[in-house]
Amino acid sequence: MNNTFFVLNGPNLNALGKREPGIYGGKTLADIEADCQSFAQSQGVTIDFRQTNHEGVLVDWLHEAGETSLGVALNAGAYTHTSVALHDAIRAISVPVVELHISNVHAREEFRHHSMIAPAVKGVICGFGPHSYTLALQALITLTR
Ligand code: DQA
Repeated sequence: MNNTFFVLNGPNLNALGKREPGIYGGKTLADIEADCQSFAQSQGVTIDFRQTNHEGVLVDWLHEAGETSLGVALNAGAYTHTSVALHDAIRAISVPVVELHISNVHAREEFRHHSMIAPAVKGVICGFGPHSYTLALQALITLTR
């Protein structure tokens, strides 16, 4: 249990690698997980890396993370911009949550400029490509050490 951080991924992130590579790059989610696993190992922590296309599953996983993890790196995908349920789930747990995005959402369409979850999280990392994941993990490790 408690050397573990959750890395939670929302909708369409299972399609990384073939999905809009000009925006998200060529790495698959499995490649990103491998990067996160080796970073975690170098830091002496473990990660539980998951993806779902379903909003309610993310809510369940956030509740689970609140009971069994040290913190959460969350790429909520498009639910970032729409989900009151995710906002409330983050507020319902006491471990830190870092919002992350591969792309710089502020340099994209206007509907991506607003995050429903940003007011509920500890901080936001976006725009560093797949490296955003390890930056989010680094932030969580620093916060919890
Ligand atoms: C994303 C940005 C979101 O706007 C988008 O809906 C995604 C991916 C990112 O990682 O850049 O699915 O969260």
